[in-house]
Amino acid sequence: MATQRTSIHGQWSSRLVFILAATGSAVGLGNIWKFPYITGEHGGGAFVLVYLLCIALVGIPIMIAEVMLGRRGRQSPINTMRSLLAEEGAHRGWSLLGWSGMIAGFLILSYYSVIAGWALAYVFRTGSGLFVGATADGVSAIFGEFAGSPERLLGWHTLFMLMTMIVVARGVRSGLEQAVKFLMPALLVILLLLVGYAMASGDFMHGVRFLFQPDFSRLDQGAILVAMGHAFFTLSLGMGSIMVYGSYLPKEASIASSAVIIALADTAVALLAGMAIFPIVFGNGLEAGAGPSLIFQTLPLAFGQMPWGSFIGGLFFVLLVFAAWSSAISLIEPAVSWLVENRGWSRVYASTMTGAVTWALGIASIFSFSGVTLQDIILSLVGGEGEPAAGGLLAMTVFDILDYLTANIMLPLGGLFIALFAGHVMSRESVREELAMRSPLMFRLWFGTVRTVTPVLVVLVFLSAIGVIGGE
Ligand code: TRP
Repeated sequence: MATQRTSIHGQWSSRLVFILAATGSAVGLGNIWKFPYITGEHGGGAFVLVYLLCIALVGIPIMIAEVMLGRRGRQSPINTMRSLLAEEGAHRGWSLLGWSGMIAGFLILSYYSVIAGWALAYVFRTGSGLFVGATADGVSAIFGEFAGSPERLLGWHTLFMLMTMIVVARGVRSGLEQAVKFLMPALLVILLLLVGYAMASGDFMHGVRFLFQPDFSRLDQGAILVAMGHAFFTLSLGMGSIMVYGSYLPKEASIASSAVIIALADTAVALLAGMAIFPIVFGNGLEAGAGPSLIFQTLPLAFGQMPWGSFIGGLFFVLLVFAAWSSAISLIEPAVSWLVENRGWSRVYASTMTGAVTWALGIASIFSFSGVTLQDIILSLVGGEGEPAAGGLLAMTVFDILDYLTANIMLPLGGLFIALFAGHVMSRESVREELAMRSPLMFRLWFGTVRTVTPVLVVLVFLSAIGVIGGE
């Protein structure tokens, strides 16, 4: 089967637009909400170092491979994999890669939208001056009450899903291309402002030492898997988001340098967010390991104290919503493009249906923040009472389970198979032709990494997490 020259869904107008869109996909809640809280939970510096190594040795090589597959296939990830495996004479099992990616996209978006709903709610809460002069305890009490009311979370989750599906229905290119150009730089400016505030009034050096001074005694085995999983999550890798964006990339645009730019921008935003948040955490005696609520407890405190805080804070959450928005659309685009190709559905219909499914899935996560665990759900379904589970799967919430399953298992597995497909299944000639790298040396460096270093590292991290190596 010959591959098409352009995608039926259209094409980015330039390489710059692709970089902006892919950066829009990569920069999101992962950088500003998730990176600080998992860094706080896993003790700081050593975790950050492992994360940075994973970005360099696993993330960037896989991003190049994933974009390359997308551009060569020029279709939704499922059909791209189908036509590439036909072209390369590979086993049909490779098409599973597209399917599992699509499922991961649904699962991630279902809880991503709930958290984006928090950010939406905080636009109004911060903007209206709710936090002016509030104490640390006051700010956490306000958050606790909010997160514990499912009906409010449902309202904001519904609004965010509607926003997402409207953009997806219109086509990823129109609308978002324009928005991303202004919003990404604006987010950067506000982040810099927050870092400035943290320097002036938080415990800046304590925060910086926490982030950048590795203390390996605080790095447990599970943390390495979380750091690697986050490298995939934050770069939008392993499930087809970046592949589908690659399928809209013009033929002549250079893939490798684009991937490096996107990864650097994404990493910079995460590190800036950390430098803004941890000085405030330590300066106010807050808990670095507070979990998913971390930024919703620290930033409002800062906004409540700084001059113009309600305005700056409101604006910050607006930009966070936009960053989440441009990420959310890329999570569902693989499914929508596939439904358009294979079912002949209109974009509007495909968006409505996928949105409805994701919205419904999201309801399961909403109750996680009122403390409902898997055990509670099972007991309420089968009836009966039980002692609260002390640990393990039963004591986890749906949010915890979905987050762990997608970020730490499905994305790294997807990425592993993308690396293997690009490095071992496709012919070296097809790969070389598609990437068209100017420097033969860079090509060899990347190809060698994606064939061996990257897959070996992913497998080693998996093995260490299940205790096969490293030993407990
Ligand atoms: N990378 C985004 C963030 O950091 C989230 C995201 C968008 C994503 N598309 C993805 C995560 C695909 C994993 C896979 O917020």
